[in-house]
Amino acid sequence: MKKQLFALLFALVPLTGMAATSSDVPYSMTPDLEDKASLQNGMKLYVNYCLGCHSLEYQRFSRAASDLGMPQDLVEENLIFSSDLLFNDQMEIAMEEEDAANWFGAAPPDLTLHNRLRGSDWIYSYLLTFYKDDEQPTGVNNKVFDMVAMPNVLEPLQGVQEKVCPDAEHQNGEAEGDASCSVLQVTEPGQMSPDEFEEAVYDLTNFLAYVGEPSKLQANTLGPKVLIFIFIFGVIAYLLKREYWRDIH
Ligand code: HEC
Repeated sequence: MKKQLFALLFALVPLTGMAATSSDVPYSMTPDLEDKASLQNGMKLYVNYCLGCHSLEYQRFSRAASDLGMPQDLVEENLIFSSDLLFNDQMEIAMEEEDAANWFGAAPPDLTLHNRLRGSDWIYSYLLTFYKDDEQPTGVNNKVFDMVAMPNVLEPLQGVQEKVCPDAEHQNGEAEGDASCSVLQVTEPGQMSPDEFEEAVYDLTNFLAYVGEPSKLQANTLGPKVLIFIFIFGVIAYLLKREYWRDIH
């Protein structure tokens, strides 16, 4: 019996390692799927700034609305812009993939499962680290995705971000490639302060984390209930076992 218990213990060891993620991106965030206000704001930002190019094919407006606690009429009025789309439709885009690839040089991928592919730290860092680069066709580059084909669509909110050299010695010329000259700083303010912008990007990334695993919201609330049930049922089963075996011993 002891041996089996040990075996069980060792079988559980890999589970503890699963929580750790390896990443070398500059920013990190922890999704909070309980924070409905953040998720709602994230969805609002998504439909306003991202859904024009990136579909969420495995997510329906109606599912998101019910998970995030938003009434149907509010969603229909404020979050569904295309007249072709209905409340029960998937969050699709009007653009053809081929056209998009021609226009941008790379097709904007569907983002439903992107959080699982890249992780939320990566997406968060990606959205925060666009910077001005006149050599790129879009006028911007990105710290975690070099030569990215996506324009910085959040620029009206963030403002113009540039690489600067905080170190005075390097201020003049030949700063290119210098490690100390890669600090990103907003040089022309947008509608939001840097803190507000970070919060907005947090909400957006949080929403993408939810979209990647919509059932997690339910699983989180269901989990404790199931454990309580198993515990109560365990007690009953144990008492029953004692009752059955009493006459035999
Ligand atoms: C004008 C169209 C357009 C809009 C709007 C847009 N994107 Fe993109 N996005 C692209 C394109 C094109 C790519 C592909 C870039 C590449 O492969 O070089 C991309 C790539 C991405 C990627 C990286 C995909 C990868 O390869 O890992 C993420 C994440 C992303 N976009 C998120 C967003 C978010 C979040 C928004 C809304 C704030 C947004 N995008 C708005 C066009 C767009």
